[in-house]
Amino acid sequence: MLAARALNDERRISGVWGAAPGDNRVSMIQVEHLTKRYGPTVAVSDVSFEVQKGEVLGFLGPNGAGKTTTMRVITGYLPPTEGKVTVAGFDVVENPIEAKRRTGYLPETPPVYPDMTVREYLGFVARIKAVPRAEVKKRVEETCEKSAVTEVRDRQIGKLSKGYRQRVGLAQALIHNPEVLVLDEPTAGLDPKQIIETRELIKNLAGQHTVVLSTHILPEASKTCQRVVVINHGQVVAVGTPDDLTRRLQGYETVLVTVEGPAAEIIDKLQRLEGVNLVEPRDASGPRVTIELHAERGHDVRPEAARAVVESGWKLFEIKTSGLSLEEIFLQLTTKDLGEQAVN
Ligand SMILES: Nc1ncnc2c1ncn2[C@@H]1O[C@H](COP(=O)(O)OP(=O)(O)O)[C@@H](O)[C@H]1O
Ligand SMILES: [Mg+2]
Repeated sequence: MLAARALNDERRISGVWGAAPGDNRVSMIQVEHLTKRYGPTVAVSDVSFEVQKGEVLGFLGPNGAGKTTTMRVITGYLPPTEGKVTVAGFDVVENPIEAKRRTGYLPETPPVYPDMTVREYLGFVARIKAVPRAEVKKRVEETCEKSAVTEVRDRQIGKLSKGYRQRVGLAQALIHNPEVLVLDEPTAGLDPKQIIETRELIKNLAGQHTVVLSTHILPEASKTCQRVVVINHGQVVAVGTPDDLTRRLQGYETVLVTVEGPAAEIIDKLQRLEGVNLVEPRDASGPRVTIELHAERGHDVRPEAARAVVESGWKLFEIKTSGLSLEEIFLQLTTKDLGEQAVN
């Protein structure tokens, strides 16, 4: 099973990391065999992953996958049914105060106090989160800067755009300067410009903070995160960098060749090239045919394919590699019969 293989790879990798002498990686969040049931509903089932200090980890999965549930357990808002979660070494069940002190949480629906100004609200949150009184003012100013809400700090939250409100949500998560930030779908519902701004903000937080953000949108994860945990139906189906995931799932490289000439003959010719495993017409309806080659990984067949076409007197219009997009991989991962497909 591909999913199982992906997980084993990951375990091996993290095993190596964990064991390496002189390794200065520090695991800031550890989720171990987490299961969460709501009555008969199993929302999260035996989920394990780690987040290293300073890392931005994407928690990616379709709606209903179990992202919010996992985040609520990490942030201490829901107890696990089984398993264990630690934040900065503190068990979220046994040591909730220490764990929460080190955690900032932006829930799916940020807490709203529409009548308060941004500054009043952040001051209020700072006091709840035990920021020393003498420091509150300064901390509010700093956090406004960090979250890019300084220009609206005296406006009522209820009158702000969704983008600003979301950043106020980020500011309340940051106010006590936590080591760990848990952001549940931080770009959901924002317009494209606001999405780009929010991504930049989050990237700037990496390093100083350890960030876990959830998203059901793949480009979000690949653009903002160094590593991605893919979850589906409450289970982890893959872990890796966006590039790892692409490579792991795609055992070959796809090359598309567009030629004017007799389709059958062209296919026959390309089939004979070294390193080519499969040749199929993609579009052979007009005088130009587009043919898909699957080449062994690391074997760039484009020069040979181009020569074969030109030497046969056919007209070559285009030759290009076509990797699977992350979007396609995500779909593969979250399609139910992935296991069967992968075995074949
Ligand atoms: N309070 C709840 N009571 C019962 N079922 C719930 C509750 N919250 C979530 N669920 C169920 O748990 C599963 C995971 O939900 P959730 O963690 O919100 O997923 P995601 O955030 O990935 O969309 C879903 O099937 C959802 O219907
Ligand atoms: Mg959710």
